[in-house]
Amino acid sequence: MKLICLTFVSLFFQIISFAVVTEGHQINDFPIIGVLAQEVYSPKPGENAYIAASYVKYLESAGARVVPVMINRTEEEYTKLFKSINGIHFPGGGVSMFSSGYAKAAGIFYNLALEANSKGDYFPVWGTCLGFEQLTLLTSGKFLLSKTNTSGVALPLKFTNESKDSRMFKDFPEDLITSLANEPLTENSHQWSITTESFTGNEKLKNFYRILSTNADGQTEFVSTVEAYDFPIYATQWHPEKNAFEWTHTYIPHSTAAIRTTFYMAQFFVNEARKSLHKFPSQKEEQNALIYNFQPTYTGSKSSFEQTYYFD
Ligand SMILES: *[C@@H]1O[C@H](CO)[C@@H](O)[C@H](O)[C@H]1NC(C)=O
Ligand SMILES: *[C@@H]1O[C@H](CO)[C@@H](O)[C@H](O)[C@H]1NC(C)=O
Ligand SMILES: *[C@@H]1O[C@H](CO)[C@@H](O)[C@H](O)[C@H]1NC(C)=O
Repeated sequence: MKLICLTFVSLFFQIISFAVVTEGHQINDFPIIGVLAQEVYSPKPGENAYIAASYVKYLESAGARVVPVMINRTEEEYTKLFKSINGIHFPGGGVSMFSSGYAKAAGIFYNLALEANSKGDYFPVWGTCLGFEQLTLLTSGKFLLSKTNTSGVALPLKFTNESKDSRMFKDFPEDLITSLANEPLTENSHQWSITTESFTGNEKLKNFYRILSTNADGQTEFVSTVEAYDFPIYATQWHPEKNAFEWTHTYIPHSTAAIRTTFYMAQFFVNEARKSLHKFPSQKEEQNALIYNFQPTYTGSKSSFEQTYYFD
């Protein structure tokens, strides 16, 4: 009887694993996403690199687990990690796009993602704010940013016509799209932007990314949301994670529509990660890599982040 039950159970799981294939992708309901760390501005013993906890909560809220991706590691280590995780997120921040450990690691993961995706090995990449800017540099090979007056302001998105059929927004509820287009729900904390003119004037960027939204600082129009045409690579100049998880500035929106924005964006990217079948070589290695091995510190009284993970 026991044997029959076991056979039944294993048959059941086989049926399940065959059933969850959508759009040609086998679905992985155990997605693990890497979040890239970066140098702290004034390092202290034990605090050389950090990740704002809001990015971690953002991805966890949509059903992913997070692995911190440390800076200053070797290409071999990054390649091994790449094969273990189901997507990578480049957060916002304030480090060099050329010489930082963040920039170097981002470059390695970007190239690995291009290569893997070209061979049918699905691996999504997301850039927020600095991550967005880093992706424009990685794709174009050029620094194309201009100064804008956008260092602390919430804005409505100016959607392009192409956004309607975009992978990112096509499944958003109609009323949320209307709110995003009319209410200041997207938080901008950047001094640099890529103008629509610079973006579309660069052949590499124009051919690689579909522009989904733009914004303006009153004078200069800049690109605020993109998705790559042929790769699962996405970026926002604005901060989807802040609405639900950061309270340190009065311009961070917290309305119902603002919070829904956070969760629909998170859900979109985590669903992309569910299409990746990368896996850690062992459960032990997976456990050791997870962010649960680290504790966030309360930093809301002295920084823009309520909680921060610090790394040695
Ligand atoms: C990373 O390496 C650079 C030198 O390449 C060094 O200045 C920096 O302190 C290192 N940071 C961390 C967090 O290891
Ligand atoms: C920058 O934008 C803010 C509104 O976000 C505005 O109050 C301020 O006057 C602007 N500054 C300049 C120099 O345009
Ligand atoms: C977007 O669509 C509207 C309405 O269909 C049209 O008037 C406008 O020219 C289009 N804009 C672009 C940039 O294609």
